[in-house]
Order: sequence, then structure tokens, then C-alpha cells
Amino acid sequence: MSELRPSTENILILDFGSQYTQLIARRVREINVYSEIIPWNKFNGVPEGCKGVILSGSPHSVRDDDAPKPDLQSIIGKVPLLGVCYGAQYLALKNGGSVEASDTREYGRANLSEVDNNDELLRGITLESQVWMSHGDTILNLGDGYQTICSTGDVKFAGFKDLNERVWGIQFHPEVFHSTEGPVLIENFIMNICGCSGEWTPDNFADATISELKDQIASDEHVILGLSGGVDSTVAAELLNRAIGERLHCIFVDNGLLRKGEFEQVLVDYEDMGLNVRGVRAGEKFMEALKGLSDPELKRKAIGRVFVEVFDEASKEVKGAKWLGQGTIYPDVIESVSATGGPSATIKSHHNVGGLPDYMTLKVVEPLRSIFKDEVRRVGKALNINPRILARHPFPGPGLGIRILGDVTSEKVKVLQEVDYIFINGLREAGLYDEVWQAGAMLLPVQSVGVMGDERTYENAVALRAVTSTDGMTADWCHLPYDFLAKVSNDIINKVRGVNRVVYDISSKPPATIEWE
Ligand code: XMP
Repeated sequence: MSELRPSTENILILDFGSQYTQLIARRVREINVYSEIIPWNKFNGVPEGCKGVILSGSPHSVRDDDAPKPDLQSIIGKVPLLGVCYGAQYLALKNGGSVEASDTREYGRANLSEVDNNDELLRGITLESQVWMSHGDTILNLGDGYQTICSTGDVKFAGFKDLNERVWGIQFHPEVFHSTEGPVLIENFIMNICGCSGEWTPDNFADATISELKDQIASDEHVILGLSGGVDSTVAAELLNRAIGERLHCIFVDNGLLRKGEFEQVLVDYEDMGLNVRGVRAGEKFMEALKGLSDPELKRKAIGRVFVEVFDEASKEVKGAKWLGQGTIYPDVIESVSATGGPSATIKSHHNVGGLPDYMTLKVVEPLRSIFKDEVRRVGKALNINPRILARHPFPGPGLGIRILGDVTSEKVKVLQEVDYIFINGLREAGLYDEVWQAGAMLLPVQSVGVMGDERTYENAVALRAVTSTDGMTADWCHLPYDFLAKVSNDIINKVRGVNRVVYDISSKPPATIEWE
């Protein structure tokens, strides 16, 4: 599967299943060159516009019978090739060299003890600079024609090249943070060796996407898009808006489980952006569907089902709708085509504005399917989208419904909205909002004894959660200042009736998750 536009200058990354493959793609894109990951078993030749190829690492050993061993004929000698870790070992093996299990430990930090600075790849890389190793096999012999360009104390063939064929191999991982001069090496490969121009900027991406959308969507066709208030759907909507204007019909559903004042605020923001947006209030329908449910999965499924019904109903009113716009981003695409496996085990059934039923026979348009989350924000900035929207914390589709543990009632929603409002507003006022990746409050199905004035109370407990993360896949709890937590706790207990205890969640993900349900 290719996300490429035919003419785009690009770097192809052949994925052998390494945990770091996405990082390689990001490092290349950080120097404004478009890169695309293709699983090794889906590779069928270099795409148009390809200026170079990078072979990723892998959990496999090249000595395994079932190890990935693609044919590199269409690459070698045609465009520059860089093998990283497994990629380098595979190159050495193919060149007639040998790779064996290593008898010294080659995980973690190492330092370059020899560096050939005349080599184009290593220009500017300093002796003793730190590199990150992560391999169980080692290259014993490079075969004919390959020349060593750097070594560490333990690894003689830490880097090699074949100038005639424009092939390089490196045993360490330049893409990880701990390889301190990794960005220099990657830039040398991309800009000097492959000769890329580095013109893939957020502005160019936005312009090219808008003109593609104009070509893709015929002048009498309309697009429906479910907005969530989040960054991805908003940026997708703005790109479509610039391409087709009034023929884009956005629907923003109030499921009664949003934050306090969120529906009104988000609608104003969207209208300020000039989006053709319709707000649909459907809180009662969601509450009805949730009645009597306390199992998290049943609650998620009920919310998802009602969302589809409401969205379907609203979209029937759009005449000429042929397309469904979605805010799908690149990690979702990579996941479904990854070299090592498909979607992971279901921990929670996530509800997004996606997952619509088959009977909605609309074609799907996904303007963001080739970019990462941080790139979405950069594109949003290039499109002059309100910074408040771009900086908004992620918020789950099922909203407060999965932050009220157990059964959900309108009264509980009101209590939690007040608690959440005090917490989030507090973060903003203390200048902490942007330091946190996501924050929110959970209403616990627990009552405890307290004392207010001279009276005994027996009321609810709430948990506050604030995490740091880059993608929500892993997260750590935020070390918020004690003074701040003390003030927020005080405000909540004094102002929100029905709450007499506040706790702070100090669990990381894994093993916990960000949401409690
Ligand atoms: P967990 O709880 O799985 O959450 O650690 C990871 C991230 O995903 C968000 N989340 C959702 N987002 N629909 C969404 O659009 C959902 O059903 C959903 N469930 C969790 C969560 O808020 C966090 O950012």
C-alpha cells in the first residue's frame, strides 16, 4: 500500500519489524523529506520519486530460516541504500560476508573508537560520539568490496560502505535519541548522498493536499465529516474546507458526555473557522442507551452504536453526499499493514467517528493518512487553525461515559463536569496545561466518610489523572506540583456538592491505561 503522490521526492523505508522503524521515518521527515514505510514483504520496486532506501532493524536474526530476505536488485546500484542494524547484517550476508551470534553484549550505549570522516555518511561525526546498539548477532566478515568506515570497542564493523554501488551499512541505530549524532548521519545520507531538496514542509503538504482533494472530489459531490473537537478531525476538515468549501458538511454530535461548556465552545471555534458545521444535540439518546449498563465494554459499545445512529440520521439530510471524510493518521495505517503483525489484542474497543456500518456506501477520503500526530499539528499551524484547538488535550470519543466508573446518570455527569472543569481550568491558570499530554477526572463508584463543618459526610471520591506521553501508547503520570494539587483538591471539595475526597493517579501506562475504563 502506498500513500505516495507520484511526483513527491521520497525516501523509502523497508520495514523488517523493528520497534524503531517509525522513528526512522520521523527523523527523515524532520529534515523536510517525505518518507514512507513499506513492510519488506509488500515491497515490489522503488516508487517514482524515490531518492534512496533505508533498511530497518528487525527482531529476526539473518541466520533464521524464516528471516526477511527481500530481493534488493531493484535498489542496489539504482538509488543509494542504507542498512541499519539487521539491514546492515543482511547487506553483509548478501555480499558474501558472515554474521554470527555475538559473544559480547551489544545492547545499549557504545562509543565510536574509529571514524572515517572522509566518508560522506560520517562527515561531521566525532570520534568517541555515543551510538546506540541493540543486536544479538554480529558481522564477522563483510565480504568483498565492502570497506569499514567506523568501529566501536566491541564492534569492528560498526559501519561500512561500497562506494561503487552507493551502499552503506551501520550496526547502530542513528534514529534513536541516544545516538547523539544520529541526526547528522541521517541528514548526510538524505541530503548529501541521496541529494534530496528538503522541500516537504507543512505548507507544501497543505497546498498539495488541497489541490489533490480538488481533483479527487468531483464538483457535484459532497463530503460528510464527523468532527470530534480534536486536532485530527479539525485539521482534516480545514483541508477539505479549503478544497471544496460549502460542499463539506461537518457534523458535531453532543453525546451529553462532553466537558462542561465544550459543545458550545467548540461550535463557536468551528464557526469562526468558516466551517459548514451542524451541531446535533443527542444527549438524551445516549443516556437512554446507557441506562442500567455498568460494564465498560458494554458502555463503549452502546455509545458507539448510538453515535452511528445519530450520525447516519444527520447525514441523510445531506443531498449528494458521496464521501465520508475521516481524520485517520499514519500510525493507524502502518498498524494495519505492519510487517510483524496486524492490530494488537483488543484492550478496549475504541470508539471513533470512524467505524461506520457497511450500509453507508460512501467512499472514504482521509487527507491525513500519510502523516504523524505532531505533523498534523504542524500542518494545522500552517493552516492558521486556532492554537487553542491545536493544543487541546486528546479526549476519548465516549467522553465522560468512560470516566464515570460503573453506571452513568445525568446527575453523575454534572458532578464530573464540575470537577473536570476545576481541574482543567486550574491547569490553564497555573500555566501547566501545555506541559501535560492529557488530563481529566474520574468519578469513582466509591463513597467515603468525611467531615465538613462539624458534620459527618458520606460522599463520592474522584481521581485526578494527568499524564505525559508522545502518542498515548505509553504514558507516565505527571509530577504536578503538590501546591497545585492541594489547591485543586480544596477547590473541588469546597465547590462540588457530592464530592468529599480527591485522589491523584500515579500509575504509568503500561501496566495501567490512561482512561480508567
Ligand atoms: P487508553 O485508556 O487506552 O487511552 O490508555 C489511550 C488514548 O486513547 C484515548 N481513548 C479513546 N479515544 N475513542 C477515542 O477517540 C475511544 O474510545 C478512546 N478510548 C480511549 C484516551 O483518552 C487516550 O488519549
